[in-house]
Amino acid sequence: MLTLLKLLKDGKFHSGQDLGVALGISRSAVWKQLQLLQAELNLPIHKVRGRGYQLAAPLSLLDVTQIQGGYWPVQVLDSVDSTNAEALRRVDDGCQAPFLLLAERQTAGRGRRGRKWVSPYGENLYYSLVLRIEGGMRQLEGLSLVVGLAVMRALREMGIPQAGLKWPNDVLVERRKLAGILLELVGDPADVCHVVVGVGINVNMQATEEVDQQWTSMRLESGHMVDRNALVTLLNARLHEYFDRHRRDGFAALQGEWEQSHLWQNRPVTLVAGANQIQGVVLGIDAQGALRLQVDGQERVYSGGELSLRLRDDS
Ligand code: BTN
Repeated sequence: MLTLLKLLKDGKFHSGQDLGVALGISRSAVWKQLQLLQAELNLPIHKVRGRGYQLAAPLSLLDVTQIQGGYWPVQVLDSVDSTNAEALRRVDDGCQAPFLLLAERQTAGRGRRGRKWVSPYGENLYYSLVLRIEGGMRQLEGLSLVVGLAVMRALREMGIPQAGLKWPNDVLVERRKLAGILLELVGDPADVCHVVVGVGINVNMQATEEVDQQWTSMRLESGHMVDRNALVTLLNARLHEYFDRHRRDGFAALQGEWEQSHLWQNRPVTLVAGANQIQGVVLGIDAQGALRLQVDGQERVYSGGELSLRLRDDS
């Protein structure tokens, strides 16, 4: 079935006859495989009499041989529940970090605060990098914000100059979400632990009814299809560079750069913490990556994975 998908990924028409010859199977077997492709991967395929079959949209498939840079071993999975969940299972099984898992699709992609991450086949990036952290708490301070910076830099270099950050680690264009980050940790954070750096980027997705918030994709913003292997290559390089700076100089050295890219700096916001809502104005972040808000004329500091920020003039 995947060989068939690779033949169709260019988004052009292919006759049933040509596909059958290329795969060494009959035209009716081609038809059956096409049905399976549509059903299992949820990929719409057009059939036009006299022309053949065509994917509704071309795909840029992941290919380890096209991902440059040898910072960490890379594996591409075709389908998985969640690359983060699979990475955690592999840590548990004793796999040696660092390693990177990518998938063409996730059937149970997870987002922050228990939300799901919509992960259709072959369109976006589902990226989980596992790091072994030995430096104790200092190496973890602000780490998720550092990942946000690296992702944003990669996206800007890939043709989305308007990408910016929203605390703690969303990458947005205006109010539309382009990328999300989910860090999951196992082990003893004060001693030796493993961190799974999960990054989801909306790359070539053009339509979905499943996402329950304002979203965008690189393709929608730039108007052209993005090579996902080139994106992974650049993301690896930026993450490697920012992790180095973080390890060497600590998060405080990146605090100013982060604030400069914060889209909601000095804006009135509501901070949602479970059932509580706190109204304030964003002052910035502190040297550990916590949010600094002006609340009732006083500066207060907030941190924690369950917090989320909304603009106060949101309707
Ligand atoms: C968010 O809610 O903003 C975080 C989304 C993180 C999604 C990525 S996709 C790769 C990795 N695997 C997952 O299940 N989640 C993360």
